[in-house]
Amino acid sequence: MRILTIGTFDCVHAGHINLLQSCKEYGDVVVGDNSDEFIERYKGKPPLFTYKEREELLENLGYDVHKNTDNGSTLIYQINPDVLAIGSDWARKDYLSQIGMTYDELDAMNIHLLYIPYTKNISTTIIKQRLSESS
Ligand code: CTP
Repeated sequence: MRILTIGTFDCVHAGHINLLQSCKEYGDVVVGDNSDEFIERYKGKPPLFTYKEREELLENLGYDVHKNTDNGSTLIYQINPDVLAIGSDWARKDYLSQIGMTYDELDAMNIHLLYIPYTKNISTTIIKQRLSESS
């Protein structure tokens, strides 16, 4: 089984680690890591860690990392995973419209969408807030 998860993974923290560890239970993990350009377009500002730094860190943790340059659909077609995993914070948002795909398209590719339980009280946003409050 091949499991793909796509995200930014800036300031890698326990929430990211928990998500990636959970993914491992389902098969061979492929991490789609958002490019600096995509993050800048999507969030309006660059990540704290460059793509190169984020990629290197995830690779050092043993993950197979691929650059994600758009909403994710290109990578999903390229990797053609059995499972597409995302944190459950996305369960109440519209993850499919985020990636620009429909359930029919996922079904046609035999991709199972999996929500992994979100780790409470930690996020890149929280880390950035803590940093700004401590300086
Ligand atoms: N994630 C998680 N638990 C957290 C934080 C993130 O499970 N506490 C998951 C997200 O749901 C996503 C992946 O980790 O599947 C990558 O999330 P990303 O957006 O890169 O990290 P966040 O910490 O959520 O970043 P931000 O605060 O900028 O939204």
